[in-house]
Amino acid sequence: MNVAKINVSEHRKPDHDVLPVFVSRWSPRALQPGVSRADLSRLLEAARWAPSSYNEQPWRYLFAVSGTPEFNTFLGFLLEANQVWAKNAGALLLLVAKKTFARNGKPNGVAVFDAGSSWQNLALQGASMGLAVHAMAGFDAAKAASTLGVPEDFHPCCMIAVGKPGEVETLPADYQGIEKPSPRNPITAFAFEGRWKA
Ligand SMILES: Cc1cc2nc3c(=O)[nH]c(=O)nc-3n(C[C@H](O)[C@H](O)[C@H](O)COP(=O)(O)O)c2cc1C
Repeated sequence: MNVAKINVSEHRKPDHDVLPVFVSRWSPRALQPGVSRADLSRLLEAARWAPSSYNEQPWRYLFAVSGTPEFNTFLGFLLEANQVWAKNAGALLLLVAKKTFARNGKPNGVAVFDAGSSWQNLALQGASMGLAVHAMAGFDAAKAASTLGVPEDFHPCCMIAVGKPGEVETLPADYQGIEKPSPRNPITAFAFEGRWKA
């Protein structure tokens, strides 16, 4: 079965009224190629418009498209547990964040936070386009940075697999059972009025 056929509303019910894309976005592993350069441009355009401290825009994306030698290079940065499914992606991206402000060279303590905002823009744009977008912290950051010539001043945040939704049956058996939208904690578990609550 194609993951696009999975009915998200059978797995997730928001407690309050929100934009549907927040709930319908999830991170499939069943991918297939077919991500066009125009698709990638739209994803990066969404990433572009994220807010950031002092409008620093500390995010940088390096990417490789399936079928190119660079794609295999990017794939080689991933842990085996991610490689087994991400190999079917249409594109792999590396998100890095500039650790200092361009304006004064001082440390930017929110660079990774801002890069995360841009990733979320990208992910939501992908979901709205019917693409599967999956972030991965499981990669060798030092290897990726040195191989791709990323300067010292940039922190490797995560890699991202993008693909057309694929068939669940193409996944290794132990991944097939978990190929569904995950739940969330209730608001009361993470939002506290007035002061911290244990
Ligand atoms: C920064 C980040 C790193 C992640 N790393 C991995 C990873 O290495 N491998 C993986 O299979 N999923 C990874 N995920 C996916 C998460 O497990 C997933 O987002 C989470 O379980 C919530 O599920 P959902 O995205 O389907 O809503 C990562 C997600 C984020 C945001």
